[in-house]
Amino acid sequence: MKRDFLSVTDFTSEEIRENLELAIEVKKKTKQGECPNVLKGGVGALIFHKASLRTRCSFEVGFRQLGGSAVYITDKEIELGKRESIYDVAKVMSRYFAVICIRTFSHENVAELARHADVPVVNMLTDLLHPCQLMGDMQTILEHKGTIDNLTVTYLGDGNNLTNSWMRMAQRIPMNLRIGTSPETLPSPEILEETRKAGLSQVEIIHDPKKAVKDADVIYTDVWASMGQKDKSSQKAEALKGFQVNSELVSQAKKDAIVMHCLPAERGREITDDVMDSPQSVVFDEAENRLHAQKAVLIKLLG
Ligand code: CP
Ligand code: NVA
Repeated sequence: MKRDFLSVTDFTSEEIRENLELAIEVKKKTKQGECPNVLKGGVGALIFHKASLRTRCSFEVGFRQLGGSAVYITDKEIELGKRESIYDVAKVMSRYFAVICIRTFSHENVAELARHADVPVVNMLTDLLHPCQLMGDMQTILEHKGTIDNLTVTYLGDGNNLTNSWMRMAQRIPMNLRIGTSPETLPSPEILEETRKAGLSQVEIIHDPKKAVKDADVIYTDVWASMGQKDKSSQKAEALKGFQVNSELVSQAKKDAIVMHCLPAERGREITDDVMDSPQSVVFDEAENRLHAQKAVLIKLLG
């Protein structure tokens, strides 16, 4: 049975752990010029309906390093669901590609594509979730902290696809997840509810930023207005102005806390330059690890 990767919860806790170990191994091997040739000429489809630097480049480079290649496709070519149905697109693309990777707005469209595709589908970001980012982030945490278990992770800022992905990760890996955000910018209530029901991690929504970062091991942030929401930029900035990751707030966390951002960053808005460029910041390690964490996911899905 083919498997998809639309949410980190498509993997068990054990599989996430194995995948992170594999990502670290693949990173080492790649640096030695010995990345495993598992794709053997296989081709991946990369469908993008939104902008991307890290995701596009890391997937294209990753496919090549694994001995395959990728085709970059925008909505101009496919017009998913408009020129032809998602069902037909899924069936046709399954005849050409080893895997279909997609970044789009609607998570439901990606789920529908996955239901009908005969090859694995990978979510490269929807309005709801960004699971590939979380795999690279957990690899980064493992490398810097030596563990991914029972850490206090404070997410500060807009309740968005990254916040939702953190909650999904907290359903698989035990953590103390604190979401520091305003009452106007809350993450998905359904995912919050399912995470609390899963009962593995503690999840709190905290409206006081200082309380949210107190003694944290990891401080994480993201843009305040995601792609597709840039018209809400000033509204979000007003609601979130106390949640900027700056040196005063970082000083409330543990001395050895790491600061994370999925990037792209709006420097001076959700994070200050001094924090982003400080020794505590691991933002470029996260960007690098996207490459290796995704190769590990592809190895798992394509065997
Ligand atoms: N973090 C991330 O997904 O970056 P891009 O939007 O540039 O791909
Ligand atoms: N939340 C951001 C993440 C970008 C990688 C967005 O969806 O635009």
